[in-house]
Amino acid sequence: MNHFQRKRGELCCEDVPLAELAAEVGTPAYVYSTATLRRHARVFKAALRGLDVLACFAVKSAPNLALLSLLAEEGFGFDIVSGGELYRALKAGGEADKIVFSGVGKREEEMEAALQARIHQFNCESEEELEQLSRVASRARKVAPVALRVNPEVDARTHPYVATALASSKFGVPAGRVRKAYRLAASLPGLKVVGLACHIGSQIDELGPFVEAAKKMRALFLQLRADGHDLRRLDMGGGLGVPYRERGRQPASPQRYGEALARALSGLEATVIFEPGRLLVANAGVLLSRVLLRKQGHAARKFVVVDAGMNDLLRPALYQAHHELEPVGRPRRGAEVVDVVGPVCESADVLAKRRRLPPLQAGDLVVLRTAGAYGMAMASQYNARPRPVEVLVDGRSWRVVRARESYADLVRGESV
Ligand code: LLP
Repeated sequence: MNHFQRKRGELCCEDVPLAELAAEVGTPAYVYSTATLRRHARVFKAALRGLDVLACFAVKSAPNLALLSLLAEEGFGFDIVSGGELYRALKAGGEADKIVFSGVGKREEEMEAALQARIHQFNCESEEELEQLSRVASRARKVAPVALRVNPEVDARTHPYVATALASSKFGVPAGRVRKAYRLAASLPGLKVVGLACHIGSQIDELGPFVEAAKKMRALFLQLRADGHDLRRLDMGGGLGVPYRERGRQPASPQRYGEALARALSGLEATVIFEPGRLLVANAGVLLSRVLLRKQGHAARKFVVVDAGMNDLLRPALYQAHHELEPVGRPRRGAEVVDVVGPVCESADVLAKRRRLPPLQAGDLVVLRTAGAYGMAMASQYNARPRPVEVLVDGRSWRVVRARESYADLVRGESV
């Protein structure tokens, strides 16, 4: 469910025609819907009613302050992975006591800043990190609340770049070493052991891997408690997938996810932390772009060149990801198979490959859907392309929530 629908043939975001936005702010542009974001936030919370929950939005998926502040308003905390994300979360009005700091490598300054802010919990991913954090906390005369991220070794059956719980993964501590690691944590003066954590991967569309992980985590949680650790929080990470394709297999719904996890974790007497990213924002955003020209390649290959490229939306190039693409205006009659490509000097700069689309012409506006998560978040200035403007729509009104970068922004901090 999202609020990008056609009205009298023209694609709109809520009540604002996307063509009107393009005329005002130019292209490429990321456009987000307030109503969709709020709705997803509420659906997610409602789905987990059966548990005592702390929901922490994964900042990395969509770090814009306006989006974070909306989610803070909806009661969300934040899952961060850097000092920069801590800065963003606090700046957006996030409550420190609802911030979880994940990641396999944290610098000392980042640990210090998070301790000063009094965040909810550090998710540590190695024995060495536990020792580092204890040292930093002791030096600051603080005690760091910690959970250890364990690798529960479940195959999330997703793209290899976003699977994080295989035995070969850099993430988490192998389950076999966890009890020993907790003994170490309990012995360190700067730490207070408060929980256990995992995150098995991203864009996972079936429930099986989540249930398998929950069962393993439950058993481990109870084992650690029996060992004498006073665990109160179980962090199950994020990872529930979204429908990128209009047709075909659809991912499990948040409701079914919530029910399955509530069943697997019932009676645990723990706050269950979730770190959803994509699920909340992916469908709340599109990338709006304009066709520059058409080009005939070899034989029957037809290209449509648009003004957005892989620097603006990296997912197709990096993960062979599919984003639905459609014209903003009333679609012309007929259909043709084309490659929609960006202007970046890389053969990987293909946004939509061998796609059957209504005929497109220079000047037409198109959108790439489901681009709200890991879209702007992963944009770069490659090829000296200023990053896109971000716009947030709310009903009939809209505002720029991040200005388009200028050429001066491209060289900021550089000198000849
Ligand atoms: N928690 C941790 C510790 C994570 O590493 C991640 C994502 C999340 C939560 C949020 O996962 P989500 O609910 O969004 O699936 N750039 C890739 C996705 C990378 C995910 C990295 N970690 C993409 O565009 O598909």
